[in-house]
Amino acid sequence: MRTAFLLTSLLALTAATTEIFYYADGDSDDAITKCAIDAIRRLEESTTCVRFTENPTEPSLAFTIIHSDECAWQPSNKTVHLGFDCITDNLCTELIGKAVGVDRPAADVAHFVGEKHNCTGPCNGLRCEFGGKLSTSECKCSCAYGFKGDRCETLDRLESLNDASCGVIEAQDAGSLALSTFPGDQAKGVFCQWLVKSADPWDKIELNFDGLDMDNESLPPNVMCNDILTIHGAGDVTTIPCKGAPIVPKMVSTSNWVLVELRTNPWARGAFSGPSIRYNLISRPAGALAFSDGMTSSAVLQSIIPAFAVLLARFL
Ligand SMILES: *[C@@H]1O[C@H](CO)[C@@H](O)[C@H](O)[C@H]1NC(C)=O
Ligand SMILES: *[C@@H]1O[C@H](CO)[C@@H](O)[C@H](O)[C@H]1NC(C)=O
Ligand SMILES: *[C@@H]1O[C@H](CO)[C@@H](O)[C@H](O)[C@H]1NC(C)=O
Repeated sequence: MRTAFLLTSLLALTAATTEIFYYADGDSDDAITKCAIDAIRRLEESTTCVRFTENPTEPSLAFTIIHSDECAWQPSNKTVHLGFDCITDNLCTELIGKAVGVDRPAADVAHFVGEKHNCTGPCNGLRCEFGGKLSTSECKCSCAYGFKGDRCETLDRLESLNDASCGVIEAQDAGSLALSTFPGDQAKGVFCQWLVKSADPWDKIELNFDGLDMDNESLPPNVMCNDILTIHGAGDVTTIPCKGAPIVPKMVSTSNWVLVELRTNPWARGAFSGPSIRYNLISRPAGALAFSDGMTSSAVLQSIIPAFAVLLARFL
């Protein structure tokens, strides 16, 4: 198994390399250019078949990086616009991705650039899902809480879920999470996970806590709740307090999925209906920005930019 991986990685190394020419306006010390160049270097390190060459005299430029007021990709003249106020490592990665034809959130750009150019990157293109981390020395995914599988693609404890409402929810637009008994009383000892995910890699999922009728009887000091409601995939893992505790603001997932887990107290005395949570998809994040009419780049820097920018890549 391991040998197979190694062999295919070696084969990938011998595959043709695509050289991509770009023009970067400004020197690599300034923050804007550095953000783009760093993104390019990270991309080169994690793919085996793409090399970027900065070459202002090369006529077949794949893209041009300019200082601008916005962070955006302008397809009509193959320009990456970067502004002081909007650059982040992720956004620069996403815009360089768009410049080479890959429209994905930062974490996935390298994988899909490799796929596009027929190289697979480390570990034969193994990609861990749902927050799993790839160990390149072992070529194995180490999965985040709640997931298992070679790519961390499935819920780890599907067979333990004991309410009909639980499991994977392919979110289209908006919906709600509540136990099947809701608004009636929840059962004791419920173990439920709702994995809400969207097919669009750019979507984020917003959770609104409408009701949190969970077992808060006779709580000893410093104990959150007798029922445990935790959210994974929206920043730090968060345990949501009971009703009666400070109100939870809405939460937004970090990527296109969120895992909500509920464990109800098996020894509960009172009757509770459980949490009632609304979710909705938030589309079109900043990283997906495309340059639109009316946006202008800084005029001073514009004047030194050659007005060419055609073709895509050239093969070695
Ligand atoms: C990748 O491989 C496919 C099928 O062999 C081929 O059609 C395509 O042109 C290749 N792309 C690149 C960038 O080498
Ligand atoms: C439990 O919830 C009820 C209803 O919201 C509230 O009145 C009560 O103060 C809560 N008890 C504790 C210990 O937080
Ligand atoms: C592309 O067009 C924008 C304005 O529409 C301009 O600011 C930018 O400099 C152009 N890029 C190139 C490479 O000419």
